[in-house]
Amino acid sequence: MDSAVYVDGRIVPPEQATVSVFDRGFLYGDSVYETMRTYGARPFMGQAHLERLRHSAAGIHLQVPWSDDELDGAIGRTVAAARGDSGRDLYLRVVVTRGAGPIGLDPALADRPSLIVIALPYVPLPQGAATQGVAVRIASIRRTSPEALAPSLKTGNYLNNVMALREARAAGAFEALMLNARGELAEATTSNVFLVHGGRVRTPATASGILPGVTRALVLEVLRGAGLPAEEVTLGPDDLASADEVFLTSTLKDVVPVTTVDGRPVGDGRVGAVTARVAELYRDRVRRWIDEGGR
Ligand SMILES: Cc1ncc(COP(=O)(O)O)c(C=O)c1O
Repeated sequence: MDSAVYVDGRIVPPEQATVSVFDRGFLYGDSVYETMRTYGARPFMGQAHLERLRHSAAGIHLQVPWSDDELDGAIGRTVAAARGDSGRDLYLRVVVTRGAGPIGLDPALADRPSLIVIALPYVPLPQGAATQGVAVRIASIRRTSPEALAPSLKTGNYLNNVMALREARAAGAFEALMLNARGELAEATTSNVFLVHGGRVRTPATASGILPGVTRALVLEVLRGAGLPAEEVTLGPDDLASADEVFLTSTLKDVVPVTTVDGRPVGDGRVGAVTARVAELYRDRVRRWIDEGGR
C-alpha cells in the first residue's frame, strides 16, 4: 500500500474510504481541514498545522473532541500504513467534519464529528516551476471577505477559490491571485503571495483577508533572521504590476517564483535574485527542522 485513509478509527485503502452522504462536510462544506506533507514519517510543522486546524474549528463552532495526542496517533497510524517499509514522503490531508445527521442547516443536527486522514505519495511540483517560475492570473472572483466566512479559517468551503483557479487554468496559468472585496491583493487560491520592489519584500497583511500560511510564517521568520525583514502591508494590483519579483508560498509548493501576471512578465521575466535567496533560506530552514527533530 502506498496510500492509506483513516476514517473514524479504521484505516483502509483509498478506494474503500467512504463517508456518509449525510455528512455535513459533503452537504454543506461544514468541515475544516489541513494539508501537510511529511519528511520521512514526520508531518512537517505538524504542530502548527494542528493549531490552525483547531483555530479553524473554533471559528465555525465545531468542537474537536480529540486531544493532540489522539490526533497525532491517528495521523501516525495512517502514515505508518501508507509508508510501510518505504522511505516515502507523503501528502497528508486531515479533515474534521461536523459529522452526519438529518438534513438541515442547523449545526445542532449533528453531534459526532468525523476525523479523516488521507495519506498519499507526496508529488513535488515539476522542477521547472522552481527554476523557470509560473504564470498567474488575477481572478475576477474575490476572496471571501472577513465579514462573510473568514478567510483565516481553512474550511471545506473552497468554492470561491475553486472558481478562481478554474479561471486561471482556462487561461493557461498555473495559479490565480485573488483580490479581497476592497480590490486589494489577498493571496492565491492555495498559496500566499510575496512581492519584491527594489529588494524590499512585502506580503499582504492578515487584515487583507488571507489564510495565514504556515510557510508564509516560516518565510517571514527566515527573512527576519537574514536581516531582510518583510513588511506585512496592504498591497494592490498596481504594486503587483510594478513588482520586480513575485513569489508564492505553500506547504506543498515551498517557494515558487512567479514570472508572468496576466501574461505580462514580472520584472525581466526571469526568476529574481531575492526569490532565489528566499527559496534557499527556506530550504535551509526545512533542513534544520528535519535535523533538529522538531514538531
Ligand atoms: C487559501 C490558502 N492560502 C494560503 C495557503 C498556504 O498555507 P500553508 O503555507 O500553510 O500551506 C493555503 C494552503 O493550502 C491556502 O489554502
